[in-house]
This record gives sequence, structure tokens and C-alpha cells, in this order.
Amino acid sequence: KAATLTLDRDFSLAPIDPRVYGGFAEHLGRHIYTGIYEPGHPTADAQGFRQDVIALVRELAMPIMRYPGGNFVSGYHWEDGVGPQETRPRRLDLAWGVTETNAFGTNEFIDWCQKVNTEPMLAVNLGTRGPDQARQLVEYCNHPGGTQLSELRISHGWRAPHAVKTWCLGNEMDGFWQMGTKTPYEYGRLANETAKLMKWVDSRIELILCGSSGRGMPDFGKWEWEALQECYENVDYLSLHTYYDDHNGDLASFVSEPDNMGDFIDEAIALCDAVKASKKSKKTLHLSFDEWNVWFPKNNALPQKRTWPEVSERPSDVYDMADVLVVGGMLLTLMEHAERVKIGCIAQVVNLLAPILTEPGGRAWRQTIFWPFHHAATLGRGTALRCAVNAPRFDSKVREQASVLKTVAVLADDESALTIFAINRDPAGDPLELSLDLRAFGTLAPHEHLCIAHPNLNAENTADAPETVVPHTRALPPLDHGKGAVTLPPLSWNVLRYR
Ligand code: AHR
Repeated sequence: KAATLTLDRDFSLAPIDPRVYGGFAEHLGRHIYTGIYEPGHPTADAQGFRQDVIALVRELAMPIMRYPGGNFVSGYHWEDGVGPQETRPRRLDLAWGVTETNAFGTNEFIDWCQKVNTEPMLAVNLGTRGPDQARQLVEYCNHPGGTQLSELRISHGWRAPHAVKTWCLGNEMDGFWQMGTKTPYEYGRLANETAKLMKWVDSRIELILCGSSGRGMPDFGKWEWEALQECYENVDYLSLHTYYDDHNGDLASFVSEPDNMGDFIDEAIALCDAVKASKKSKKTLHLSFDEWNVWFPKNNALPQKRTWPEVSERPSDVYDMADVLVVGGMLLTLMEHAERVKIGCIAQVVNLLAPILTEPGGRAWRQTIFWPFHHAATLGRGTALRCAVNAPRFDSKVREQASVLKTVAVLADDESALTIFAINRDPAGDPLELSLDLRAFGTLAPHEHLCIAHPNLNAENTADAPETVVPHTRALPPLDHGKGAVTLPPLSWNVLRYR
């Protein structure tokens, strides 16, 4: 099969906010305990942080990290996780049916963020709590000193304020599974009052309103419209969450889902802008896609029985080659929507739904999906360009006329590099001959072709074989007066670099 791609440096979509390459760390499964925090592990530092994991997270180059949940936050008392560890209470975590020791809390997270070179993004509990505890947390974290809560932080050993800029107003507040589920009106009012108080404590912060927890929720649309009516002027972003499963091996449906994610974003933008128009507001809301990934329904089910183990018995999800195509596609969807999507958080980072796996007491390694994320986060910096594409199309149960080629091009801010991300997701498994017209880019020359492909779509990276699915470097054919061609192998993720 064959396709064409024409690019022009003047056809820009929008600058990509690097925060779209963020992550999400929840007290869930073995993400925190035996994932990022494991005192006694051979690589643990003085704070008990696994340095093998820190090194891998740094490779992901995530500019922002959401914490502590997720469903977990809707019952969380932040006070439990600060102060001397030996006096911290053990609590029942109703969200996931485990015992929370609180050995790891807000201050540890802030320090860990510094070590992995990311900015913290904290969520407040609007499930079982409200404005008062939220504004107290902002004061504890961000106020320089001289008040009981800021001095408490200082007495705990953190003299400088944490200066947390970005905050989530709860999590998935429309979900029946959430502690403290709300109607959109209830939530909008609560979010507005909470937002007011949090911003009065620190006017520099930015706030994210929970959109409905999925496009498939019965009230999607109504939720956004009604909640935003109550708080539009006091919030800065609307959140979106989406997960796709593998449709029981229906590859055509699975690989076309990232386009549905794009429609979801377009609908959320329309909803925000409808509220803006109805309020005659001058303010434009941005989007925070703060949970997205491929989902494993078996591993991530809500707890049926709450048995309260201290170390979660939930299995970690293992990703394969097919997931590279979908996670890669979702990353490209975020880039395509750079004008309005300013934050994105892959859910999650370690063990549960994550690009990194660990063994308790043992090894840490990169999953298959680590690689498209690493490529996007390190090379997808600059301005997203409009792509003029001609390519064959295919139908699936979830989408008609999806293009076999999903592609986004990014021009570096100093125009010294052009990076084309291209997925050959043809479910027929054919190679794709891609003709490129890059005449607008003058002196840029082929640099390298990074490619992830594997004959077995179920191939995984394991502790014993961590390099089963990894990128390979291929030669990028020369351009002739700005025109060239490159072969994209069957079912492959590709990064074409010119500079
Ligand atoms: O990321 C796992 C869970 O998925 C989160 O806790 C919740 O917000 C979502 O439903």
C-alpha cells in the first residue's frame, strides 16, 4: 500500500505544551509501595526511593506528575501522610480495598518529583471532604511561613514552600464507584467554592475541573455543561479520562480508537466553548487529559471484596506490541490537539497501567509502551504541523474510514529539526510506502528512522527478556529536492527525524 504526506513549515497547528507528556502516580496496586518507594531495596536511597525506578522515570522526561489519585484521593486525608512516619495512621482505603500505611505522602512525593525532574500536580479530596481541607492543603504546601499550617510544613522538614501550581478539584466525581459521587450541580457548586478558597490562599495556582469520567458516561455533555455553569470563571482546565481495551483481539477496532479520543477532545472543547458563549466570557478553558492509556479490564476491576492487604495483590498490567500502536496513537491525538490540550497524564507510571514494571526487591524494566512515550516526550517538542495526508482507509466496529497512516509532524522551536511520528496501523498487516514532500524545509536533511515493529503483536518485555520490543534505528532515505520515500513496516511505530 502507499500513502503521501506533505508538510509546510507555515502550516502550524499550535505549539505543543510539554506538559501533555505528563504522568500519574496513584496509591494503587504496587505503584507507590514496591514501585517508587521501597526502603530496603538494593537501590533505595536514604528516603526509600528506588533509584532504578527514578532513572527510568527520568528517561520518560515527564514534565508534570499527578498525585495521589485517582479514586484513592476521594477518601484521602492529606494530614495522614505528613509528619513523622512512625506516627502516621494506618487507614482503610475504600477505593481499592487495601490498608494504607501512609508511609509515603505529600512531602515524599514532592521530593520524589525533584529527583525525577518533574513538576507536581496535586489532587484534593472533593469526595468525602470539601473546601476547608483543600485550602488548608494549599496553605500547608505553598504558604511561605508564619501560619500554623505553613509552620507545620517547616517543622516537618520542608522550609521552602512546595510552590505547587496545578491542582485537580477531585477525581471522576460523576462515577458511582467514587466515594462521594455528586450530581453535576452539586459538584459545580462545590468546585466553585473550593476553587475560590484555594485561589485566595495562593492566587498563582491553576485548577482543573473534573469532566465526566468518560465519553461513554450517560451524563457526558450534561455533566460538563451543568458543572461549568457553576464555576467557569474560577477554573482553568477541564479534565478528560479515557482508556481503551483491546476489543478481544479485534485489531482494526483497537488501533482506530485513538481517533475516537480525538472526537472526545473536540466534543469537550465544544462544551467548554458553549459555556463560554452562554456566559459571554472572555476566558477560554484548556483541557487536561489527565488519565489515558490502554486498559486491562481483568486487572483493574473495582474491588469486589475488600480484604485490606497492606501490599496490593492486584497484578500489574503487561503491555505488548499491539499496545505500542494504540498508546502511540493516543500520544499523536494529544499532539494534534495542542491548541487546547495543555496537560496530559498517562495513567499510570509504575506497575499498574504503566510503562515501567518492577519486582518487589528486584528488577525494574521498560514495558513496550515505554518507547513511544519516550520518543514523543523527548522528540515531540515544538510546534505541531498540519499534515496533508493521502492514505488508504479501513472500517472497524468502532470507527469508519480510519486512515492506515496516523501521523503528526513537529517542528522544533528554532526550526532546526523536523520530527515526523508515523504509525502504520493497517490491520491487514501490509507495509506502507510513504512518499514525503518536505520541499518547504530547505536544508533539513535525513537524520534517522527510529522504528518499533515485531512480527508477534503479542510480544512483551519481561524481566528476563526486557528488550523483546525496542526501537531499532533504520536508514532514512535521502531527499531529492525535498521529496523522498520511506517504507513503514507492517504494524509499526516510526519516528522520522530530519535536521
Ligand atoms: O487509573 C486507575 C483509575 O481509573 C483511577 O483511580 C480512576 O480515576 C480511573 O477510573
